[in-house]
Formats: sequence, structure tokens, C-alpha cells
Amino acid sequence: GETMKFQEIKNNIYYCGLNDCDRRIFDELIPLEHGTSYNSYLVKGSEKTAIIDTMYPPKTKEYLKRLVDNQVGKVDYIIANHGEQDHSGSIPALLEKYPNAIVITNPKCAENIKSMLHVPDEKIRVIADGEEVSLGDKTLKFIFAPGVHWPDTMFTYIKEDNVLCTCDFLGAHYTFSDVFAVESKELEKSAKRYYAEIMMPFRMMCKKYTQMIKDMHVDVILPSHGPVYTNPDYILDLYADWTADAPKNLVTMPYVSMYNSTKEMIEYLSNKLEEKGIQTFKFDIVDDDLGDLAMSLVDAATIVMGTSMVLAGPHPMAVNVAYLAAVLRPKAKFGALIGSYGWGGNLFGKIGELLAPLKLDLIEPLQVKGKPKEEDFKKLDEIAQAIYEKHKSLNLV
Ligand code: FEO
Repeated sequence: GETMKFQEIKNNIYYCGLNDCDRRIFDELIPLEHGTSYNSYLVKGSEKTAIIDTMYPPKTKEYLKRLVDNQVGKVDYIIANHGEQDHSGSIPALLEKYPNAIVITNPKCAENIKSMLHVPDEKIRVIADGEEVSLGDKTLKFIFAPGVHWPDTMFTYIKEDNVLCTCDFLGAHYTFSDVFAVESKELEKSAKRYYAEIMMPFRMMCKKYTQMIKDMHVDVILPSHGPVYTNPDYILDLYADWTADAPKNLVTMPYVSMYNSTKEMIEYLSNKLEEKGIQTFKFDIVDDDLGDLAMSLVDAATIVMGTSMVLAGPHPMAVNVAYLAAVLRPKAKFGALIGSYGWGGNLFGKIGELLAPLKLDLIEPLQVKGKPKEEDFKKLDEIAQAIYEKHKSLNLV
């Protein structure tokens, strides 16, 4: 497309990243509703010029052209906040283009870019946590932030401007023509979807860094995906909510149903729970968007899995979701398993095993042969009542 001029964020700090409007899925896992952006920032000091984070490899050519079109004649430092390829993948090409540049990064990221991207040792300067590098009238301070979301993640703080580059943390899969965040439900949803997939497994670390950044009172947050925040409290308050220990009064109900029996049970149970003042989110594992499931897991107090039997075990799609739910490490406290079978087998053994890491307080499961009968609906009433009591014990309802 056409060359876009860099947008100035503040006082010689420019956005030089790119949108990827066509990208439909991230990590080959969670669908993207708005594509994503790979953010890169150019910081022009009175003496030295730095680029903070680079580009996703398929976009390297476009990225280098953008730098040239914007008259970036010299780059002294390439700051690698994180070794994952959507940000560090273009480092080798950038080093070729700007042979005087050196990469500044932390020890773990240095190892990663050496081993994964074959960046030569002599092009890397390894810094320590809290170390500063001067650009003349600007100072970059490096703050190691392992765990949000890789062990090699760090933040870069531009001291004089009170601007913090937070790497993947506080990001969103979102595209824009104006880099400044417009606070909207759509942006909030994208940021939550992103948090759910990428950050939720590290909730306690996210909570810690949210508070740390709050206490820094920075003026602008520059994440490595999605828009920049000139009102940092907007995104920090959302993170404070998502990372809070207490779940919400919500039951997430992923299900797969071959002959509608499991679906009928899920719908019946959902209605009973709603009647008791409990919010539910029914999720059709085959047809619905996994991002929506991940987002509901940010808040849910209870997970109810519904599955049909395939051969002698749970449906493979339910197994997939149980595995995903376990690795995302949501804060849910309670669980229940319901489903229907044709001729026999063990419906829940595998699912229970996969969900074990979540240490859910499990309610007595319900396995029904074929279509649910009167007595099965009674059992579902009991499950609804049990969930109600569990939620009540946490003062959620
Ligand atoms: Fe956006 Fe962890 O890379």
C-alpha cells in the first residue's frame, strides 16, 4: 500500500509499526476479529536513535520500506523487549540495513535471539535489570518483566517523557489508522480476548505488573500490539478487574452435542441457573469462536462441560476444550460434567484428568443414556442448586 508517515506519539517518539488487517488467527488458535498490529517505536534522542521492538517476519520488507520512506538514516540501538518472532523476527534484516546498530536486550532474550534468529553475539549488548542507556536528551531504562508472557520479557521506560513500552503486556489484537486508543467496547473486547489467551495463564504476574505500572504514574503506555494509551488507567483498571482473585457470578458452559441430548441438558441447566440469578454463557464447541470461550473464562466462577460420547469416551472436541481450559489457568473455583452416551463407556474420566490442574471443586457428574428423562432433569435441578450454593458461599449471588 501507500507509505504512511510515522505518527509522533510524544516529543520525538514515533510509531513505526504496521497493521496486519488480514490476519485472522493468532498462535493458530484464537480467531482475531480485528487483525492485529506489530508495534515498533522510533525514539530520536539528541545523540542516538533507538528502535524499540521490530517486526513480524512476513512484514519485514514493508517495514524496512517504511523506515526508508520516513528517512530513518541511522539506527544506533535496536531494543529487543522480547524474543518472540512477531517483534524480534526482523532484527537480522534490520541489522543488515543498519550495520552500525547494536541490539540491546536482557540475558534471556539475548539467548533467544541468538538461538532462534541467529543474531551474532557481537551485535548484542546485554543489559541488567534497571540499567539505563542514554540517547542524549533521552534515557532508556530497562525493567525486566519475566512472566508477562515469556521469561525474556522486559519493559523499556523512556524517562524524560514518562512513557513506558510494555511489550506484549497490556496489548490488544487491534488495528488502527490513528495510534492513540479510542476507548470503546470493541477495544475493551479485543484487549480482553488478548488477555484471555496470552496473559491469563500468568494472572498473578499480570496482577503484580499492573500494580507496579499504576504506581509509576506513567503518561503513556506503548504496548507491542494494539493502540497506545494516553490514559493508562483505562487499560490498567481493566487488568485490575480481570486479574482480581474473586471470580464473577458466571457459569461457562462449553458443550458438544451429537444428537441434541447434551445440548438439551445444557440449555435446561442454563435456564435453571439464570432463574436463580446466575449468569451463564453457553458455548457450542464446534460452531462458536474459541476467543469468546477464553474471555468468559476470565470471569467465570464455574465451568460446566457438556459432552457426547464418541466410541467409549468423551467427544474429541470436548477433550480439546478441556485441555485448553486447563492451560489458560482461569480462576474458576467449581466444575460440573454432564453428557449423554449411546451404548457405554467412560464419559468423564479423560475430561476430569485434563481439568485436574484447575483443582475445581467438582459437583457430582451426570451421565445420561440417550435423551434425558424426568429423573435426569431432577438431577439437573440438583446440580443447579449445588452451583447456586457454591456461588452463594463466595457471596456471588
Ligand atoms: Fe507479541 Fe509474545 O509476542
